[in-house]
Amino acid sequence: MTTDVTSESAAVGGPASADTDLVLETWDVTLRFGGLTSLDHVNLQMRRGEILAVIGPNGAGKTSLFNSLTGAYTPQEGKIVFRPKDGGEKSLLGSKPHIVNRLGLARTFQNIRLFSALTALENVKIAAETRLKAGPVSIMLGLPKARKAERLSDERAHRLLKFVGLEDKLNEIAGSLSYGDQRSLEIARALATDPQVLLLDEPAAGTNPTEKLELEGLIRRINTELGVSVLLIEHDMRLVMSVADRVMVLNFGKKIAEGTPSEVQQHPAVIEAYLGSSAEDAAAVQEIIAEHEHQSASDAEDGQ
Ligand SMILES: Nc1ncnc2c1ncn2[C@@H]1O[C@H](COP(=O)(O)OP(=O)(O)OP(=O)(O)O)[C@@H](O)[C@H]1O
Ligand SMILES: [Mg+2]
Repeated sequence: MTTDVTSESAAVGGPASADTDLVLETWDVTLRFGGLTSLDHVNLQMRRGEILAVIGPNGAGKTSLFNSLTGAYTPQEGKIVFRPKDGGEKSLLGSKPHIVNRLGLARTFQNIRLFSALTALENVKIAAETRLKAGPVSIMLGLPKARKAERLSDERAHRLLKFVGLEDKLNEIAGSLSYGDQRSLEIARALATDPQVLLLDEPAAGTNPTEKLELEGLIRRINTELGVSVLLIEHDMRLVMSVADRVMVLNFGKKIAEGTPSEVQQHPAVIEAYLGSSAEDAAAVQEIIAEHEHQSASDAEDGQ
């Protein structure tokens, strides 16, 4: 059943029975590019405080979903609702990206987007400043309000760079950082806008095994210490299965499964979708299934 969000009901029109534990919800979101349907009636339900992973083969529609949630794309059909923690509901469909960000959603990009000629600190400060209220005139005239905003954004940027493990690289040029450090910097920059929901698009891509482990810890700390809900697109199945509370699987723009990591990795439609995709993805899924079977067998032995 789909739930209608109409303008007649409260706020943007959540149904009277709206589940306020859901921070983000979509109904039948459909996005087309000419004859290609990149999202096909996608229903997403993200609980407040959870780490929800979105997986699926290449071209499944994962980034399109992020782009639709954050205002880069406007789906032709469907509804998208964000429920901020202080109450109410906001419709996100067709909102401009900076508005979505101000409401409480921040993202990183599959292809890293940083100001590569600026330092790590400057990259994060710019994002932090968008949260602080000094206008262009008070900044130009160096008024107290602007000086206070500058000091606060500086402190915030320092704190966040420490949080992501870049405290020794504050003054390094972003473009000269390692791939893993650039990904951490992008996360710090997204966090600087003080989001309630953080959307990470393949944060482990291009990182080495040590960086992947650090990333795993970082995602957990963002979730537990900062209380931020995390929506995670990732091809690294080990990372997904280890950090995600729940997993949603897309294939050809459609949601084909969702559940806990162990439910999803045994789902026949998921296995089939991956087996028909890249050899690398298929091998990763096979490996996880084998590991799971091995684990189940040794659990059974332990139980005897
Ligand atoms: N701006 C666009 N114009 C035309 N087609 C697009 C556009 N954005 C996405 N698509 C198409 O939508 C489909 C889904 O793409 P999307 O980038 O969302 O996949 P994905 O799941 O993120 O894949 P990957 O794992 O490779 O990043 C693809 O067929 C893609 O070519
Ligand atoms: Mg993508």
